[in-house]
Amino acid sequence: MPGDKADVAMFGPKPIIEEALTKAGLTLHKVFAAPDHEAFVSSIAPQVRAIAAVAGHGPVNSAIMSRFPKLEIVSSFGVGYDHIDAKWAGEHGIIVTNTPDVLNEEVADTALGLTLATVRHLPQAERYLRAGNWSKHGDYQLTPSLRDRTVGIVGMGRIGKAIARRFDAMKVPVVYHSRRPADVPYKHYPNIVDMARDANLMVVITPGGAATKNLVNADVLKALGPEGILINVARGSVVDEAALIRALKDKTILSAGLDVFVNEPKVPQELIDMENVVLLPHVGSASHATRRAMDELVANNIISWFAGKGPLTPVAETPVKK
Ligand code: 8YV
Repeated sequence: MPGDKADVAMFGPKPIIEEALTKAGLTLHKVFAAPDHEAFVSSIAPQVRAIAAVAGHGPVNSAIMSRFPKLEIVSSFGVGYDHIDAKWAGEHGIIVTNTPDVLNEEVADTALGLTLATVRHLPQAERYLRAGNWSKHGDYQLTPSLRDRTVGIVGMGRIGKAIARRFDAMKVPVVYHSRRPADVPYKHYPNIVDMARDANLMVVITPGGAATKNLVNADVLKALGPEGILINVARGSVVDEAALIRALKDKTILSAGLDVFVNEPKVPQELIDMENVVLLPHVGSASHATRRAMDELVANNIISWFAGKGPLTPVAETPVKK
């Protein structure tokens, strides 16, 4: 094949990807395993033609990509690729791929679970039981309900639609905010503050990056109101975290369920100390089956490219289409 034995750099350990690429006859360079990353990257840079990238193992920016003069493709793990400078890559003829679709239903499941946990205080109630309070102090307090809510979904892409379908099934009215209206039967709000005023539950599932940084700000939280509940399964950067902490403290909104944070894996102590939040360690897609499917897609994008069949799931900014 055209890319037989092509050199691939990996910045984080991913056994399924490693196995698939090796089986396909590609030459792997495990940057993460080298005692001196800098020296290792310099030694492999001239021959590397692909990078298998994983969010959380550092950004793949222009400074990194320009170190590899023969770089053709960056295959990234995760549907979100805000850790990659895809625009720069596109302008320099480098393909970027992500792992869309294979995680839609899993992330939507997690969003629903986190919503129910937050609205109905499930983790708090469980802590109450484990602490022996049920027998000592009687029933756990009554909680807010999903029954009297309208959900405003921020982002109506593939995962947003999967989340909307679940709320539909639960008889919760759905509205949404996105830059452009999507092909869905729900009411579209071009302005997020207007939507926040009309909804009392907000689920954030829009891509991260500069375009959505702090999209959910103090004004949005104020409009969501004192009964309002915020769920974020997108990126920490989409929500102004300091404004959210203030809004939770002064009861501008009721509560929040968060799977993502600005500075992962660091979570502000103020959030950890609050009872009216449910916090998850970015587990949206983290099941065995879905993570395997994502790993395989990372590997298959590289394999397909070097087999001369093009990338399977190129991102919008990429110079080569499917
Ligand atoms: C991953 C995600 O956890 O797909 C995404 O964008 O946020 C998750 O599925 C993430 O890529 C971190 O590895």
